Amino acid sequence: MRQFPAFFLMDDAHVVIFGDGINAERKARLVAKTEATIKLVTDRAPDWAAAFGEQVQLVAPDKAEGALVDARFAIVALDGDAEAEAAVALAHSHGVPVNAVDRKHLCDFTVPSLLDRGEIVAAVATGGAAPVLAKDIRAKLETLLPDRIGDLAALAQRWRAAVKEAISDETRRRHFWESALRGPVAEAVYAGDEARAEALMAETLEQFSADSAVIGPVHIVGAGPGDPELLTLKAFRLIQQADIVFHDKLVSPEIMDMVRRDAERVPVGKSKGEHLVPQDGIHELMIAAAHEGKRVVRLKGGDPFIFGRGGEEVDALREAGIEADVVPGISSALGCAASVTLPLTHRDHAQSVTFVTGHAKKGGVPDLDWAGLAKPHQTVVVFMGVGTAGIISDKLREAGLPGDMPVAVIENGTRANEKRAFGKIADLSAIIAARGIKGPALLIIGEVASLPADAQTPIIEEALA
Ligand SMILES: C[S@@+](CC[C@H](N)C(=O)[O-])C[C@H]1O[C@@H](n2cnc3c(N)ncnc32)[C@H](O)[C@@H]1O
Repeated sequence: MRQFPAFFLMDDAHVVIFGDGINAERKARLVAKTEATIKLVTDRAPDWAAAFGEQVQLVAPDKAEGALVDARFAIVALDGDAEAEAAVALAHSHGVPVNAVDRKHLCDFTVPSLLDRGEIVAAVATGGAAPVLAKDIRAKLETLLPDRIGDLAALAQRWRAAVKEAISDETRRRHFWESALRGPVAEAVYAGDEARAEALMAETLEQFSADSAVIGPVHIVGAGPGDPELLTLKAFRLIQQADIVFHDKLVSPEIMDMVRRDAERVPVGKSKGEHLVPQDGIHELMIAAAHEGKRVVRLKGGDPFIFGRGGEEVDALREAGIEADVVPGISSALGCAASVTLPLTHRDHAQSVTFVTGHAKKGGVPDLDWAGLAKPHQTVVVFMGVGTAGIISDKLREAGLPGDMPVAVIENGTRANEKRAFGKIADLSAIIAARGIKGPALLIIGEVASLPADAQTPIIEEALA
C-alpha cells in the first residue's frame, strides 16, 4: 500500500484554496460539503464564489500567509508552475499539508474519488494510476450502499450513549448494534420512515436490555430467474446480512455464493413434485429460526408471489406472530422473455398477458379457462408446464386456438445453460422432445412467440432438416 487513507476532521476547520479557475471551483465544491470555511486566495472575485455564501472568504494573495495559519490543509489549483511551487512552499512553511491539482510531485496527499452518504463517506484511490477505475469502483459502491445509509449512521450516533448506558456487556452491545443496524431499524430508515425507526430502536433496546431475543421479520426474497445480475439490490443486501437462508432448488449457485460464508444454508426446495421439505415443514423451520433470534431469509426462485407459495408462507408467519417482509424478484416469465427478446405484450399482437400453471395441486393438468386462454391477441405464459405440455396443447386447440399459433419453450432462462425452442402449438410435445427439455421451463404461447430472431428457425423444421 503506497498510500495511507485517513480522514480530516473538519469541525471548526478552515481550508486554503489557491486559484479561482475550474479546478479551484471543483475542489471548493467538495470542501463545501463539510463544515469548514474556505479561504480562497485570489486577486479577483470569481463568479462562482458567491454561490457558496459566507462559507467562502476571499483572501488577497499578499494576505495568504495569514490565511494559512492553523489551516487544516491547502489546495493549490494554479495554472503557472512557478506560482504553484511558491504557493506549496508557503503552505509548507506553515506546516500545512498540500494537494496540488495535476502536480502529483508537489502533493502531500491526494483527493480520492468520494462517495458521500452524510455520516458515511467512502473513498477510493488508485494512486493516480487509473482515476477512471477509481470512478468506476465508486459507482459500484454507490449501488451497494443504500441512499439513506448516512441517516442510519446519524441515528446510531443519536442513540450511542443511551445504548451504552442500557447494555453494559460489550458483546451483547455488539449484538444489539448488529441487530439494529442490519435489521428492521435499518429497513425503516432506508424506507424513509424515521419515526418507525426510532420506535423500533427503542423496542429493540428494551428487548436487549431485558435479555430477550429479537424475533423477525422473516424476509421472503425473490432471487430472480438465475442470472445473479438480475438480483435486486435489496435482495443482495438481505442475503448478505442473513444468519440463515432457506432456499429453493431454483435459486442459482451463483446467487447462493453471495450468502455470507458463516451463514447457514438450508435447502428446502422441490423439483417436479419431489419435496425436500414439505411446505408445513418449511414454515416450522422458518418460525423456529426466527424464535432463536436469527436473521432469516427465505430465498425463492423468480418472484415469491408468482407461483411461489409466498402467500402461504406469509400466512404461516403471521399466524405465528412473526412479521413477514416480502422482496420482489424478477419472475422467470419476465427474465425468459427478455432473454430471448420476446415482448410479452405488443400493440400489434397481444393486448394482455396471462400467467397460468400447467401443474394441478394433485398432479395432472389444472382446470383452466381454456376457452378464455384460446382467444386471440393475447399471450399465455405457462409455468411448470413441461410435463403436461401435450395435454395443454390439446386443450387449447380443442378450445379454438389455431394449431399454427407460435410457441416458445425456454429452459433455464437467463442462465448459462439456457435452452430455447420455437415452433407451433400443434408441435409442442415434439419440440420439447426434440430439444430434450426437462425443465425448469416456460411455455410462451401467442403471436409474440414468433418475434424473436431465433423463432425464424422453428425447432421442428431444424430437427427435420
Ligand atoms: C414453482 S414455479 C416458481 C416461479 C417463480 N416464482 C417465478 O416467478 O419465476 C417454478 C416454475 O417456474 C419456471 N421457471 C423458474 N425459473 C425458470 C427459468 N430460469 N427458466 C425457465 N423457467 C423457469 C418453470 O416453469 C418452473 O417449473
